[in-house]
Amino acid sequence: MVKIFKDLDQFEIYRRNLDLEIKLLGTPHSIGVVPTMGNLHIGHLSLIHKSLKDNDTTMVTIYVNPKQFGPKEDFAKYPRTLKDDILKIKKLVKKQKHDSKNLIIYAPSTDQDIYPSRFSSVISVKGLTENLCGKVRPGHFDGVATVVYRLFAITKPDCAYFGQKDYQQYLMIKKMVHDLDLKINIYPMPTKRDENGLALSSRNQFIKKDERAKALSLPKTLTAIKKIFKKQSFEKAYPKAIKEIQKKMKDKSWEYLEVLDSVTLKEPTQKTPILVIAGALKLSNTRLIDNKLVEVKYVH
Ligand code: PAF
Repeated sequence: MVKIFKDLDQFEIYRRNLDLEIKLLGTPHSIGVVPTMGNLHIGHLSLIHKSLKDNDTTMVTIYVNPKQFGPKEDFAKYPRTLKDDILKIKKLVKKQKHDSKNLIIYAPSTDQDIYPSRFSSVISVKGLTENLCGKVRPGHFDGVATVVYRLFAITKPDCAYFGQKDYQQYLMIKKMVHDLDLKINIYPMPTKRDENGLALSSRNQFIKKDERAKALSLPKTLTAIKKIFKKQSFEKAYPKAIKEIQKKMKDKSWEYLEVLDSVTLKEPTQKTPILVIAGALKLSNTRLIDNKLVEVKYVH
């Protein structure tokens, strides 16, 4: 039976008992966590599957975190589909023949569980969060870092899994864990895409029918820029990529489209081994983000 907790006190009793059990058994026991905001799709399920394969216990958290949404963003309309999410997780467990005893869902029913009254801390990871999404969504990454820190404090995992679609988020969480010495391994998992290449996202349901083609221009553009780097050395490819980006950015739907060092998220240097090509596209009802990594060839 998959255990489901909606109340922090109950979850904490379970979590303390798990520690006691682990101590009594005296054998190594790893705990993986998959933090989500629900409305699960194949991307999320692939993270849960990976954690179930790699760990003795997997905890999936489902919580739509108000702190990572700006005042004009889509917090109110963000899809909340807990019943459906639980069914999807149970189906995955059955299909992949995982042991349901190893899976715990924590879906707090009140913000108080995560942010008790008088909660006043903010985790802010500098250096990786000022550009790309950080520039167009001020405060977003502080909200993500703060909630992820809280979820880590509550679940006490050994490792955590995040989708590579949110590449900047993944890098920021890795840095937070390093800076705060949290001793949690952070694993990025490949982006899952639909048959046309569009990265799966809970927000894709807001794409209007007549904006599908525009939405697909996001992965197509990233792939086209990646090809530029595949074909030739960095020295030749980079100026061509920048030209292409400048052309694209004339269309105001692009919030950003950039080629950056995949570790620092700064402008690439002549020593950058892997680039990230990252883009964000604004549609009438939603915004989409995506990225591709590319290894660089040099002539020098
Ligand atoms: O990627 C997400 O779904 C969210 O940003 C996360 C990591 C669950 C924090 O709310």
